[in-house]
Amino acid sequence: MVERLRGGDVRALARAISMVEDAQPGARELLAACEEFAGQAVKIGITGPPGAGKSTLVDQMAQWLEAHGEKVGVLAIDPTSPYTGGALLGDRIRMREPVGNSGIYVRSMASRGAVGGLADAVRDACKVLEASGRSRILIETVGVGQDEVEIARLADVTVLVLVPGMGDDVQSMKAGVMEIADVFAVNKSDCDGADRVVAEILAMQGLSGSTQDRVSVVQTVATTGNGIDELMAAVAQSGERKKVRLPAVAGTWSRGLRVGQADIDALDLDPLKSDRLDLDHLGVAVRSIAAAGRFYEMLGLKVAHEEIVEHEQVKVAMLPVGNSRVELLEPTVEDSVIGRFLTKRGEGLHHIAVRVGDVDGMFEKLKESGVRLVSEQVRTGAGGHRYFFVHPSSTGGVLVEIVGKG
Ligand code: CO
Repeated sequence: MVERLRGGDVRALARAISMVEDAQPGARELLAACEEFAGQAVKIGITGPPGAGKSTLVDQMAQWLEAHGEKVGVLAIDPTSPYTGGALLGDRIRMREPVGNSGIYVRSMASRGAVGGLADAVRDACKVLEASGRSRILIETVGVGQDEVEIARLADVTVLVLVPGMGDDVQSMKAGVMEIADVFAVNKSDCDGADRVVAEILAMQGLSGSTQDRVSVVQTVATTGNGIDELMAAVAQSGERKKVRLPAVAGTWSRGLRVGQADIDALDLDPLKSDRLDLDHLGVAVRSIAAAGRFYEMLGLKVAHEEIVEHEQVKVAMLPVGNSRVELLEPTVEDSVIGRFLTKRGEGLHHIAVRVGDVDGMFEKLKESGVRLVSEQVRTGAGGHRYFFVHPSSTGGVLVEIVGKG
């Protein structure tokens, strides 16, 4: 079977996916044989509410990729998609299996309870598609349920498709769905209200400093193909940005992220995974934000946010760097935490902050292990983020802040 897959046999591909989807006899052996090809394709998730035009957008993306020399697989897991239930609409027929010489292979997958869960079925189907030589896999889901969020997590880059007319609904979209987005596509941008949706997304991103330089917003009109170039550029950029965080895959993104699945799992591409760690920020104590900021601006960093935190008697400027940021801390009065630090130690690194999935769990774990904590409990800071500090005597000499997500 794998030999036939490698040879480009589309009927074998269809059969192989059915085998793993339905957990037919031999499916496990087939997957084991496909394993050596796992991780060879870049997976792009496309999600969003019903009626956002995702399927048309996916068509455009698939054709764009094919025109750029990629072999494309599409997994449509959208119960509202015209792929589902065998319905074929318009030009989608062209993309249906078997597609002869076309590099695009489209497959709809049932959203009803697959054996072992839908996300597992999709992951397995991806392995089969990779064994068949697909270099790009588009995974289309409706961004409404936990299943869909799980599936979107399989993707290397996730595009969230929104449309004008959602109005304030952008703000009420499920946080989990908003968080998985690397790229926002405001589709049907020829309709009134597109600018407003863009503004709402940008406003939301402004609230969470850690993600704002990670996310792009692109306007598209899927029915005409307008904005597809920009969308694909944003997808590629997002992949590049992730690569920056992931030195082990440097240089591999553009030709297909040629690393094994195990490596990808170890690299932890998933921003929502509960056990994921990230460097949230570096806190630098300075006498003057204006003076120190000049250097960082020369580096190309920009102040994204500046505020005075009254109860800590400190002025804070945040300068995003990749998925992290530098926080310049300037005391507003001499007799404050940062003011005393400056008196004692002078300007310099004040603390490093690590973001963890389960801040309470980490607090308990460190406490039980006898690590010396500065904070007696997990605190809640501005904007609702939760954090605590670990004493330098336990960390190799630097104050460490542990920050929760959100
Ligand atoms: Co801090």
